[in-house]
Amino acid sequence: MNSFTYQNPVKVIFGAGTLAQTGVEAAKLGSRALIVSYGDGSVTETLVKIIGLLAEAGVASQEFLEVTPNPPIEMITRGVEVAKAFAADFVIGVGGGSAMDAAKAIAAGVLYPYGDLWNMVYASHSNITAKPPEKALPLMQIPTLPATGSEMNMCSVVSSTMRKQKSYIWADCLFAKTAILDPELTYTLPPFQTACGGIDAISHVLEIFVNGQPKSDLLHEFQLGVIKTIVKNLPIALANPTDADARTELMWAATCGINGWASPGDAWTPMHQVGHVLTSRHGINHGTSLAIMMPAWMNYFKRIKPAPYERFEREIMPIADFKAFIAQCGVATTLSEKGVTESDIPGIVEGVKTVSFNAEGVLASNPPVTEQMLVEILKEAL
Ligand SMILES: [Fe+2]
Repeated sequence: MNSFTYQNPVKVIFGAGTLAQTGVEAAKLGSRALIVSYGDGSVTETLVKIIGLLAEAGVASQEFLEVTPNPPIEMITRGVEVAKAFAADFVIGVGGGSAMDAAKAIAAGVLYPYGDLWNMVYASHSNITAKPPEKALPLMQIPTLPATGSEMNMCSVVSSTMRKQKSYIWADCLFAKTAILDPELTYTLPPFQTACGGIDAISHVLEIFVNGQPKSDLLHEFQLGVIKTIVKNLPIALANPTDADARTELMWAATCGINGWASPGDAWTPMHQVGHVLTSRHGINHGTSLAIMMPAWMNYFKRIKPAPYERFEREIMPIADFKAFIAQCGVATTLSEKGVTESDIPGIVEGVKTVSFNAEGVLASNPPVTEQMLVEILKEAL
Protein backbone atom coordinates (compact mmCIF):
# COMPACT_ATOMS: atom_id res chain seq x y z
CA MET A 1 0.00 0.00 0.00
CA ASN A 2 1.24 3.51 -0.81
CA SER A 3 1.99 5.99 1.96
CA PHE A 4 -0.60 8.71 2.44
CA THR A 5 -1.82 11.64 4.49
CA TYR A 6 -5.48 11.47 5.32
CA GLN A 7 -7.79 14.05 6.86
CA ASN A 8 -11.54 14.33 6.72
CA PRO A 9 -13.15 16.62 9.27
CA VAL A 10 -16.77 16.45 8.04
CA LYS A 11 -19.43 15.70 10.66
CA VAL A 12 -21.83 13.34 8.91
CA ILE A 13 -25.40 12.92 10.14
CA PHE A 14 -26.80 9.96 8.25
CA GLY A 15 -30.16 8.24 8.01
CA ALA A 16 -33.83 8.53 7.10
CA GLY A 17 -35.41 11.56 8.74
CA THR A 18 -32.16 13.30 9.64
CA LEU A 19 -33.16 16.39 7.65
CA ALA A 20 -35.08 17.34 10.82
CA GLN A 21 -31.72 18.11 12.47
CA THR A 22 -30.89 20.83 9.94
CA GLY A 23 -31.94 23.79 12.10
CA VAL A 24 -30.11 22.71 15.24
CA GLU A 25 -26.94 21.87 13.31
CA ALA A 26 -27.10 25.04 11.20
CA ALA A 27 -27.40 27.26 14.28
CA LYS A 28 -23.97 25.94 15.35
CA LEU A 29 -22.45 27.36 12.13
CA GLY A 30 -23.97 30.83 12.00
CA SER A 31 -27.09 32.96 12.01
CA ARG A 32 -27.39 33.96 8.33
CA ALA A 33 -27.40 31.16 5.75
CA LEU A 34 -27.07 31.44 2.00
CA ILE A 35 -28.92 28.43 0.56
CA VAL A 36 -27.41 27.38 -2.79
CA SER A 37 -29.62 25.20 -4.96
CA TYR A 38 -31.67 24.86 -8.16
CA GLY A 39 -34.54 27.03 -9.35
CA ASP A 40 -36.16 24.37 -11.53
CA GLY A 41 -38.56 23.15 -8.85
CA SER A 42 -36.82 19.79 -8.42
CA VAL A 43 -36.00 20.42 -4.74
CA THR A 44 -38.65 22.99 -3.84
CA GLU A 45 -40.29 20.76 -1.23
CA THR A 46 -36.96 20.12 0.48
CA LEU A 47 -36.05 23.81 0.39
CA VAL A 48 -39.34 24.79 2.03
CA LYS A 49 -38.65 22.31 4.83
CA ILE A 50 -35.08 23.55 5.28
CA ILE A 51 -36.10 27.21 5.43
CA GLY A 52 -38.74 26.33 8.04
CA LEU A 53 -36.23 24.37 10.13
CA LEU A 54 -33.72 27.24 9.93
CA ALA A 55 -36.35 29.78 11.00
CA GLU A 56 -37.33 27.59 13.96
CA ALA A 57 -33.69 27.58 15.03
CA GLY A 58 -33.39 31.36 14.69
CA VAL A 59 -31.31 31.23 11.48
CA ALA A 60 -32.15 33.77 8.77
CA SER A 61 -31.78 32.53 5.22
CA GLN A 62 -31.49 33.75 1.65
CA GLU A 63 -31.92 31.46 -1.34
CA PHE A 64 -29.62 31.53 -4.36
CA LEU A 65 -31.34 29.25 -6.86
CA GLU A 66 -29.33 29.75 -10.03
CA VAL A 67 -27.30 26.53 -9.96
CA THR A 68 -27.03 24.71 -13.27
CA PRO A 69 -25.12 21.51 -14.11
CA ASN A 70 -21.33 21.83 -14.31
CA PRO A 71 -21.58 25.06 -12.32
CA PRO A 72 -20.22 27.93 -14.42
CA ILE A 73 -17.83 30.33 -12.71
CA GLU A 74 -20.02 33.21 -13.88
CA MET A 75 -22.97 31.83 -11.83
CA ILE A 76 -20.67 31.32 -8.86
CA THR A 77 -19.55 34.94 -9.13
CA ARG A 78 -23.21 36.06 -8.93
CA GLY A 79 -23.71 33.78 -5.92
CA VAL A 80 -20.80 35.46 -4.16
CA GLU A 81 -22.44 38.86 -4.74
CA VAL A 82 -25.73 37.59 -3.28
CA ALA A 83 -23.93 36.13 -0.27
CA LYS A 84 -22.14 39.40 0.37
CA ALA A 85 -25.30 41.50 -0.05
CA PHE A 86 -27.09 39.26 2.47
CA ALA A 87 -24.07 39.26 4.81
CA ALA A 88 -24.27 35.46 4.93
CA ASP A 89 -22.05 33.96 7.61
CA PHE A 90 -22.37 30.39 6.32
CA VAL A 91 -23.51 28.52 3.20
CA ILE A 92 -25.80 25.52 2.74
CA GLY A 93 -25.65 23.48 -0.47
CA VAL A 94 -28.81 21.54 -1.28
CA GLY A 95 -28.91 19.19 -4.27
CA GLY A 96 -26.53 17.06 -6.29
CA GLY A 97 -22.87 17.65 -7.00
CA SER A 98 -23.44 20.85 -8.91
CA ALA A 99 -25.30 22.51 -6.02
CA MET A 100 -22.81 21.33 -3.42
CA ASP A 101 -19.81 22.27 -5.58
CA ALA A 102 -21.33 25.70 -6.25
CA ALA A 103 -21.93 26.15 -2.52
CA LYS A 104 -18.26 25.37 -1.88
CA ALA A 105 -17.01 27.77 -4.54
CA ILE A 106 -19.33 30.53 -3.32
CA ALA A 107 -18.32 29.99 0.32
CA ALA A 108 -14.67 30.33 -0.72
CA GLY A 109 -15.37 33.10 -3.24
CA VAL A 110 -16.78 35.41 -0.55
CA LEU A 111 -13.37 35.46 1.14
CA TYR A 112 -11.19 35.11 -2.00
CA PRO A 113 -8.55 37.86 -2.21
CA TYR A 114 -6.97 37.03 -5.59
CA GLY A 115 -9.42 38.60 -8.07
CA ASP A 116 -11.15 36.53 -10.78
CA LEU A 117 -12.65 33.41 -9.19
CA TRP A 118 -11.32 31.29 -12.08
CA ASN A 119 -7.91 31.78 -10.45
CA MET A 120 -9.10 29.26 -7.84
CA VAL A 121 -9.35 26.55 -10.48
CA TYR A 122 -6.66 24.04 -11.43
CA ALA A 123 -7.37 24.73 -15.08
CA SER A 124 -4.26 23.04 -16.35
CA HIS A 125 -2.44 20.01 -14.98
CA SER A 126 0.75 20.83 -16.85
CA ASN A 127 1.07 24.42 -15.68
CA ILE A 128 -0.41 24.83 -12.23
CA THR A 129 -1.02 28.53 -11.81
CA ALA A 130 -4.11 28.26 -9.64
CA LYS A 131 -4.26 30.10 -6.37
CA PRO A 132 -6.63 27.86 -4.44
CA PRO A 133 -8.71 29.48 -1.70
CA GLU A 134 -7.29 29.47 1.81
CA LYS A 135 -10.51 30.39 3.61
CA ALA A 136 -14.21 29.82 3.13
CA LEU A 137 -17.40 30.53 5.03
CA PRO A 138 -18.54 27.49 7.04
CA LEU A 139 -20.37 24.97 4.87
CA MET A 140 -23.29 22.62 5.41
CA GLN A 141 -24.11 20.15 2.66
CA ILE A 142 -27.46 18.42 2.18
CA PRO A 143 -27.22 16.05 -0.82
CA THR A 144 -30.37 15.03 -2.67
CA LEU A 145 -28.53 12.91 -5.26
CA PRO A 146 -26.05 10.19 -4.27
CA ALA A 147 -23.22 10.56 -6.78
CA THR A 148 -20.34 12.96 -6.45
CA GLY A 149 -19.56 12.56 -2.76
CA SER A 150 -19.07 16.32 -2.65
CA GLU A 151 -20.71 16.33 0.78
CA MET A 152 -17.64 14.72 2.31
CA ASN A 153 -14.67 15.85 0.23
CA MET A 154 -12.58 18.96 -0.45
CA CYS A 155 -13.16 19.26 -4.19
CA SER A 156 -15.41 21.55 -6.19
CA VAL A 157 -15.75 20.91 -9.92
CA VAL A 158 -16.67 24.00 -11.91
CA SER A 159 -16.81 25.13 -15.53
CA SER A 160 -16.02 28.14 -17.62
CA THR A 161 -18.51 28.59 -20.44
CA MET A 162 -16.23 31.10 -22.11
CA ARG A 163 -13.17 28.82 -21.97
CA LYS A 164 -15.12 25.59 -22.70
CA GLN A 165 -13.29 24.03 -19.75
CA LYS A 166 -14.29 22.03 -16.72
CA SER A 167 -11.85 21.50 -13.89
CA TYR A 168 -11.61 21.59 -10.14
CA ILE A 169 -10.86 23.63 -7.06
CA TRP A 170 -9.07 21.63 -4.39
CA ALA A 171 -8.58 23.11 -0.94
CA ASP A 172 -8.83 22.13 2.72
CA CYS A 173 -11.28 24.96 3.36
CA LEU A 174 -13.86 23.31 1.07
CA PHE A 175 -14.64 20.51 3.52
CA ALA A 176 -18.13 20.96 4.93
CA LYS A 177 -18.44 21.41 8.66
CA THR A 178 -21.61 19.32 8.61
CA ALA A 179 -23.28 17.05 6.06
CA ILE A 180 -26.82 15.82 6.52
CA LEU A 181 -27.40 12.65 4.49
CA ASP A 182 -31.09 11.79 4.52
CA PRO A 183 -31.91 9.04 1.99
CA GLU A 184 -35.59 10.07 2.08
CA LEU A 185 -34.59 13.12 0.02
CA THR A 186 -33.70 10.81 -2.86
CA TYR A 187 -37.06 8.98 -3.14
CA THR A 188 -38.38 11.45 -5.72
CA LEU A 189 -35.31 11.47 -7.96
CA PRO A 190 -36.11 10.79 -11.63
CA PRO A 191 -34.78 7.38 -12.80
CA PHE A 192 -32.22 8.88 -15.17
CA GLN A 193 -30.65 10.97 -12.41
CA THR A 194 -30.66 8.00 -10.06
CA ALA A 195 -28.89 5.92 -12.70
CA CYS A 196 -26.35 8.59 -13.63
CA GLY A 197 -25.58 9.16 -9.95
CA GLY A 198 -24.98 5.46 -9.36
CA ILE A 199 -22.76 5.16 -12.42
CA ASP A 200 -20.74 8.21 -11.44
CA ALA A 201 -20.25 6.73 -7.97
CA ILE A 202 -19.10 3.41 -9.50
CA SER A 203 -16.60 5.27 -11.66
CA HIS A 204 -15.03 7.01 -8.66
CA VAL A 205 -13.82 3.71 -7.25
CA LEU A 206 -13.51 1.78 -10.51
CA GLU A 207 -10.96 4.14 -11.94
CA ILE A 208 -8.90 3.93 -8.78
CA PHE A 209 -9.25 0.13 -8.78
CA VAL A 210 -7.94 -0.28 -12.33
CA ASN A 211 -5.49 2.65 -12.49
CA GLY A 212 -4.23 2.94 -8.94
CA GLN A 213 -1.71 1.05 -6.85
CA PRO A 214 -1.54 -2.63 -7.80
CA LYS A 215 -1.12 -4.03 -4.30
CA SER A 216 -3.50 -3.10 -1.52
CA ASP A 217 -5.81 -5.77 -0.11
CA LEU A 218 -8.08 -3.56 1.98
CA LEU A 219 -8.42 -0.72 -0.53
CA HIS A 220 -9.28 -3.09 -3.36
CA GLU A 221 -11.89 -4.83 -1.21
CA PHE A 222 -13.29 -1.44 -0.29
CA GLN A 223 -13.44 -0.34 -3.94
CA LEU A 224 -15.07 -3.56 -5.10
CA GLY A 225 -17.47 -3.37 -2.13
CA VAL A 226 -18.70 0.05 -3.23
CA ILE A 227 -19.21 -1.24 -6.79
CA LYS A 228 -21.02 -4.40 -5.62
CA THR A 229 -23.31 -2.34 -3.38
CA ILE A 230 -24.30 -0.03 -6.22
CA VAL A 231 -24.66 -2.80 -8.80
CA LYS A 232 -27.00 -4.62 -6.39
CA ASN A 233 -29.07 -1.65 -5.22
CA LEU A 234 -29.32 0.59 -8.28
CA PRO A 235 -31.75 -1.69 -10.16
CA ILE A 236 -33.84 -2.00 -6.98
CA ALA A 237 -34.08 1.78 -6.59
CA LEU A 238 -34.93 2.17 -10.28
CA ALA A 239 -37.72 -0.40 -9.99
CA ASN A 240 -39.00 0.94 -6.69
CA PRO A 241 -37.88 4.53 -6.03
CA THR A 242 -39.09 4.49 -2.40
CA ASP A 243 -37.21 1.33 -1.42
CA ALA A 244 -35.66 2.65 1.79
CA ASP A 245 -32.91 0.03 2.03
CA ALA A 246 -31.74 0.50 -1.57
CA ARG A 247 -31.78 4.30 -1.33
CA THR A 248 -29.86 4.15 1.95
CA GLU A 249 -27.20 1.81 0.55
CA LEU A 250 -26.77 3.96 -2.57
CA MET A 251 -26.36 7.13 -0.55
CA TRP A 252 -23.66 5.81 1.75
CA ALA A 253 -21.87 3.95 -1.05
CA ALA A 254 -21.62 7.13 -3.12
CA THR A 255 -20.23 9.08 -0.16
CA CYS A 256 -17.72 6.39 0.82
CA GLY A 257 -16.57 6.02 -2.78
CA ILE A 258 -14.97 9.45 -2.85
CA ASN A 259 -14.44 10.68 0.69
CA GLY A 260 -10.86 9.43 0.67
CA TRP A 261 -11.37 6.07 2.36
CA ALA A 262 -11.30 4.09 -0.86
CA SER A 263 -8.37 5.89 -2.45
CA PRO A 264 -5.71 7.10 0.00
CA GLY A 265 -2.35 7.17 -1.76
CA ASP A 266 -3.92 7.20 -5.23
CA ALA A 267 -4.68 10.31 -7.21
CA TRP A 268 -5.41 9.17 -10.77
CA THR A 269 -8.78 10.10 -12.26
CA PRO A 270 -8.00 9.79 -15.98
CA MET A 271 -11.50 8.67 -17.04
CA HIS A 272 -12.95 11.72 -15.32
CA GLN A 273 -10.47 13.95 -17.12
CA VAL A 274 -11.76 12.68 -20.47
CA GLY A 275 -15.36 12.76 -19.20
CA HIS A 276 -15.02 16.45 -18.32
CA VAL A 277 -14.08 17.22 -21.92
CA LEU A 278 -17.06 15.21 -23.23
CA THR A 279 -19.18 17.45 -21.00
CA SER A 280 -17.56 20.78 -21.79
CA ARG A 281 -17.28 20.20 -25.57
CA HIS A 282 -20.30 18.02 -26.31
CA GLY A 283 -22.75 18.69 -23.48
CA ILE A 284 -22.77 15.05 -22.35
CA ASN A 285 -23.84 14.93 -18.70
CA HIS A 286 -21.33 13.75 -16.13
CA GLY A 287 -22.81 10.31 -15.39
CA THR A 288 -23.22 9.52 -19.08
CA SER A 289 -19.67 10.61 -19.86
CA LEU A 290 -18.40 8.01 -17.39
CA ALA A 291 -20.90 5.42 -18.61
CA ILE A 292 -19.29 5.82 -22.03
CA MET A 293 -15.69 5.95 -20.81
CA MET A 294 -15.69 3.00 -18.41
CA PRO A 295 -16.41 0.11 -20.81
CA ALA A 296 -14.17 1.57 -23.52
CA TRP A 297 -11.33 2.09 -21.06
CA MET A 298 -11.70 -1.40 -19.64
CA ASN A 299 -11.80 -3.07 -23.05
CA TYR A 300 -8.73 -1.15 -24.19
CA PHE A 301 -6.58 -1.63 -21.08
CA LYS A 302 -7.57 -5.23 -20.43
CA ARG A 303 -5.25 -6.10 -23.33
CA ILE A 304 -2.36 -4.11 -21.81
CA LYS A 305 -2.72 -4.73 -18.09
CA PRO A 306 -5.10 -7.64 -17.58
CA ALA A 307 -4.92 -8.23 -13.81
CA PRO A 308 -7.39 -5.68 -12.40
CA TYR A 309 -9.80 -6.16 -15.30
CA GLU A 310 -9.80 -9.93 -14.90
CA ARG A 311 -10.49 -9.50 -11.20
CA PHE A 312 -13.35 -7.09 -12.00
CA GLU A 313 -14.77 -9.68 -14.39
CA ARG A 314 -14.45 -12.43 -11.74
CA GLU A 315 -15.88 -10.48 -8.83
CA ILE A 316 -18.36 -8.09 -10.44
CA MET A 317 -19.25 -9.21 -14.00
CA PRO A 318 -17.72 -9.46 -17.49
CA ILE A 319 -17.03 -6.07 -19.09
CA ALA A 320 -19.60 -6.73 -21.83
CA ASP A 321 -22.22 -7.46 -19.17
CA PHE A 322 -21.24 -4.32 -17.28
CA LYS A 323 -21.83 -2.28 -20.42
CA ALA A 324 -25.22 -3.97 -20.82
CA PHE A 325 -26.00 -3.29 -17.14
CA ILE A 326 -25.38 0.43 -17.66
CA ALA A 327 -27.58 0.42 -20.77
CA GLN A 328 -30.35 -1.38 -18.86
CA CYS A 329 -30.20 1.44 -16.30
CA GLY A 330 -31.12 3.79 -19.16
CA VAL A 331 -27.79 5.49 -19.76
CA ALA A 332 -25.90 5.70 -23.08
CA THR A 333 -22.70 3.66 -23.30
CA THR A 334 -21.30 4.91 -26.61
CA LEU A 335 -20.25 8.26 -28.05
CA SER A 336 -22.31 7.69 -31.18
CA GLU A 337 -25.52 7.57 -29.13
CA LYS A 338 -24.69 11.14 -28.10
CA GLY A 339 -23.99 12.29 -31.66
CA VAL A 340 -20.20 12.25 -31.34
CA THR A 341 -18.36 10.89 -34.38
CA GLU A 342 -14.79 9.93 -35.25
CA SER A 343 -14.22 13.42 -36.67
CA ASP A 344 -14.78 14.85 -33.17
CA ILE A 345 -11.97 12.79 -31.64
CA PRO A 346 -9.10 15.23 -32.40
CA GLY A 347 -11.00 18.03 -30.65
CA ILE A 348 -11.68 15.88 -27.61
CA VAL A 349 -8.02 14.84 -27.45
CA GLU A 350 -6.99 18.50 -27.70
CA GLY A 351 -9.35 19.36 -24.86
CA VAL A 352 -7.88 16.63 -22.64
CA LYS A 353 -4.34 17.70 -23.51
CA THR A 354 -5.06 21.34 -22.68
CA VAL A 355 -6.47 20.67 -19.23
CA SER A 356 -5.22 17.31 -18.07
CA PHE A 357 -1.95 16.29 -19.71
CA ASN A 358 0.96 16.71 -17.31
CA ALA A 359 4.41 18.18 -17.85
CA GLU A 360 5.58 14.85 -19.36
CA GLY A 361 2.93 15.17 -22.06
CA VAL A 362 0.73 12.28 -20.90
CA LEU A 363 -2.50 11.80 -18.99
CA ALA A 364 -1.41 10.66 -15.53
CA SER A 365 -2.54 7.10 -14.96
CA ASN A 366 -1.08 3.65 -14.48
CA PRO A 367 0.13 3.16 -17.17
CA PRO A 368 0.28 6.79 -18.38
CA VAL A 369 -2.01 7.53 -21.34
CA THR A 370 -0.36 8.97 -24.43
CA GLU A 371 -2.14 10.98 -27.09
CA GLN A 372 -2.23 7.95 -29.40
CA MET A 373 -3.64 5.71 -26.66
CA LEU A 374 -6.33 8.27 -25.97
CA VAL A 375 -7.31 8.27 -29.65
CA GLU A 376 -7.62 4.47 -29.53
CA ILE A 377 -9.73 4.55 -26.35
CA LEU A 378 -12.07 7.14 -27.86
CA LYS A 379 -12.42 5.01 -31.01
CA GLU A 380 -13.32 2.09 -28.74
CA ALA A 381 -15.97 4.35 -27.17
CA LEU A 382 -17.64 5.16 -30.51
FE1 LIG B 1 -17.68 11.96 -10.93
